[in-house]
Amino acid sequence: MKPSLKDSISWKKLVELAKTAKRSHLSDLFKQNPDRFDCFSFRHKELLLDLSKHRVDTEVLHHLLELATERQLPEMIESLFQGDKVNSSENRPALHTALRLPATQELWLDGENIVEGVHHNLSRTKRLVDEIHSGQWRGFSGEPIDTIVHIGVGGSDLGPMMACRALAEHAPEQARGLDIHFVSSMDGSQLAKELRQLSPERTLFIIASKSFSTIDTMANAATARAWLEHSTSAPIETLLNRHFIGVSATPDRMSRWGIKPDHQLEMWTWVGGRYSMWSTIGLPIALKIGFENFTRLLDGAHTMDKHFRHADINKNLPILLAMVEIWNINFLNINAHAILPYDGRLKHLPAYLEQLQMESNGKSTTQLDEKVDYHTCPVLWGDVGPNAQHAFYQLLHQGTEPVMCDFIVSARRYTRSKNSALDHQHNLSIANFLAQSRLLAFGNNALNTAHNTPNYKRYDGNQPSSSIILDELTPESFGQLIALYEHKVFTQAVIWDINPFDQWGVEQGKVMATDLMPSLIEDSENLQDVDSSTSGLIKAIQWSRREHSR
Ligand code: F6P
Repeated sequence: MKPSLKDSISWKKLVELAKTAKRSHLSDLFKQNPDRFDCFSFRHKELLLDLSKHRVDTEVLHHLLELATERQLPEMIESLFQGDKVNSSENRPALHTALRLPATQELWLDGENIVEGVHHNLSRTKRLVDEIHSGQWRGFSGEPIDTIVHIGVGGSDLGPMMACRALAEHAPEQARGLDIHFVSSMDGSQLAKELRQLSPERTLFIIASKSFSTIDTMANAATARAWLEHSTSAPIETLLNRHFIGVSATPDRMSRWGIKPDHQLEMWTWVGGRYSMWSTIGLPIALKIGFENFTRLLDGAHTMDKHFRHADINKNLPILLAMVEIWNINFLNINAHAILPYDGRLKHLPAYLEQLQMESNGKSTTQLDEKVDYHTCPVLWGDVGPNAQHAFYQLLHQGTEPVMCDFIVSARRYTRSKNSALDHQHNLSIANFLAQSRLLAFGNNALNTAHNTPNYKRYDGNQPSSSIILDELTPESFGQLIALYEHKVFTQAVIWDINPFDQWGVEQGKVMATDLMPSLIEDSENLQDVDSSTSGLIKAIQWSRREHSR
């Protein structure tokens, strides 16, 4: 049996090393070793990971990797890839990596080669994409579809939306006339806005929900169906047939809702929602960037899978990234993490990573259901870097909170357009990334700060950061980037001995909301079962509505 985390030999050694590291400054580390970049930067394919601006040295890194081995990380990685039931509370595997396997490979689960099923559904996805791109898919009036509304939430929304935005420039000719909108908000505000401007004849809805029961998605889907019904006298069967595609792991629920079997795409219970953009949930990505590019995205992720599974631990990007962050979180007490892409195309990456990391590792019980006595997932947020500079960087530079940052940037852009004004903008953005990561790390030591400079103009620095440079933002490199983060999250979960594949913490709020619904509809006075704040708020809402209806 593994010793508890804090009893492991490497953990204790790291606690000792942290006593000195807590007093160290990144400027001193760079003075002591001017070649830190060569020592602490790593490459895999199109992706460079620079970890030199973290307060680690070779001894710390050595013990961090020892800790990973002591926690049986290599064995756990094998379990993940082989399809063992790593999601213990739901008694199932987590096989997002199988979604990226080439058709020539096999992976057997309960007597079935699941790679066959994956590629069968990829072929069905391709057929749908071809039908829509070629204009063969027609709405109820016979007009071709030119607008897609993807309805989903959480993992059934964030990944596809992020990838469509990130890779839009790769859209092939046949996809350029297709508008894709994403709708997730429970209150209907996004959908209401879309419906005001959409043409019912030419709009196709994708209802994406692994469970096909998430109230947010089902409410939006019902509103979309009602809108179509009110917009035309065409029979409901025709509308359901010509205007809805369903993606879910529960075909019976899709059928009951009215989606025809031919227009249902299957996903599987062994794919977690936040790991599902590689599955049929990625249909809008294939519609946006073309099916060929979608397979390039899968290939990119697959190369990172192979790297994570087989590369030496000393050169393994997801493991190194994970362990350096573990150092920050558990030994240097840095519990905030900012995600800062210096590329507007990666606008939705922070939101995606918020779900990936906080829903996966925002846990405080071990696999044996004991309370942890160490920190797990930090608070994570972010924005496009240059915009964040004008918003929350003040706190990063001069606040009281230690924060680690991820900078993500692509080395090449626009070069094919030969537009020097845009080239200039790209360089401007890179220069800002370099300046900010430097200033955050070294503070005053990177400036010629006079000794009598007042405190409010000083920069303490010592905020650690990882820099990720993509040669170019392509479907392959983007696939590698996202898989890098997925595997980093898994590695940290192994160290912390938590299950990254369930999300019990989000269940109770949904139940409680269902219980509260009647009090909002019935203007009920009967609110004894709730606390005074909740009943006070309900009464205030009821009062406002009564006053308005007078
Ligand atoms: O409520 C959380 C959650 O279950 C996420 O894990 C998931 O991505 C999201 O809801 C959407 O779930 P579904 O795809 O089943 O609608």
